[in-house]
Amino acid sequence: MKKVLLIISGGIAAYKSLELIRLLKQSYQISVRCVLTEAGSHFVTPLSLTALSGDRVFSDLFSPTDEQFGHIQLSRSADLVVVAPATADIIAKLAAGLANDLASTLLLATDKPVVLAPSMNVKMWEHPATQDNIIRLSSRGTHIIQPEEGDLACGEQGAGRMAGPEVIAAEINRLIVGINLKPLKGLKAIITTGATQEMIDPVRYISNHSSGRQGYSIAESLAFAGADVTVVSGKTNVIPPNGLKVVHALSAIDMLQACEKLLPADIFVGAAAVADWRLDKILSQKIKKTAGTDKLQLNLVKNPDIISVIGHLRDTIRPKLVVGFAAETDDLVSNASRKRLEKNCNWVVANFVYQPENVFDNTHNTVTFITEKATESWPRMNKKQVADRLVARIVEFFKK
Ligand code: C5P
Repeated sequence: MKKVLLIISGGIAAYKSLELIRLLKQSYQISVRCVLTEAGSHFVTPLSLTALSGDRVFSDLFSPTDEQFGHIQLSRSADLVVVAPATADIIAKLAAGLANDLASTLLLATDKPVVLAPSMNVKMWEHPATQDNIIRLSSRGTHIIQPEEGDLACGEQGAGRMAGPEVIAAEINRLIVGINLKPLKGLKAIITTGATQEMIDPVRYISNHSSGRQGYSIAESLAFAGADVTVVSGKTNVIPPNGLKVVHALSAIDMLQACEKLLPADIFVGAAAVADWRLDKILSQKIKKTAGTDKLQLNLVKNPDIISVIGHLRDTIRPKLVVGFAAETDDLVSNASRKRLEKNCNWVVANFVYQPENVFDNTHNTVTFITEKATESWPRMNKKQVADRLVARIVEFFKK
């Protein structure tokens, strides 16, 4: 039987964790051992947790009676460590590496994947401190189950409500299956991500707004599913997750060469925003503002289309699955479908640039998934969820 160590910290959503324990045990045959923080004990009692989990509840870092369950053993006794609800406080502690009670100590001591289901007031959730912590933790490989939007217990409205127990239980099950089965084991994947930079002179360059977040999320999900992943990264503001192989390549030509060096591969995902044009000749000196001239002309030449080059490789060397992206401002499906054919991609993940907020540098994305056979509109999700859904399709593709 698979085991989850469930840490319950102090949020009103703690009542949902009781249902989560029941669901994990009954619907997924996953056993649960609970750790209750001091704040959490104001919302649910050890007695309810023991009754539902069928196990004792741990709260004290320095308990003489729990010696055989020291924090190190406890943190490693499960297949997965889940914090639900995860308050702003415990998220901040984990991001900063603080360990001053049993829950925070376990989170640092564990060698198992960690899942957080945040729960808090909308302002606390949207606060840059919390958002920075979440980005930092995601980039270290912590799984975040995004809170939902709606009425909050404090009477306000917005994002911050802990995801429902069914959503969390399904995600825990998916992760436990992923940990054990590694369905993409033995397959090699190359992912391009971020923005290219085409130098103009020693100080200026042509680039774009891509954050690289979507590509890194896909790389993480692929690695989690067992693939051997290398990210070819342009300019990005993502801290690469631990354990991912990353090759840096700034210009389109460098990026293409880096990809070609990594071939052969089974999966190629082109999520980078690659400049279509570069300067025909990079200037060796900084362009001066010459008195009396109001215009400057730069000569641009076309860049190679990386994904098209990879897509059109001969069958023996072409990755079996080539996935492109298409960010459009109009005629989404027809433009993206045309690109799928022109670039010889198996699939294209298309999205509007404005949805209505700019998709670049945004945590969420609403995409249309286009294959030879079908066009599917996926609901608005965070980029990690888009990545997980795409990787689920990749797993299906290779099963066949
Ligand atoms: O044609 P467009 O730039 O919209 O196509 C986007 C897709 O093509 C993305 O997958 C992007 O990574 C890829 N691309 C590329 N090389 C280029 C331009 C785009 O690989 N020079």
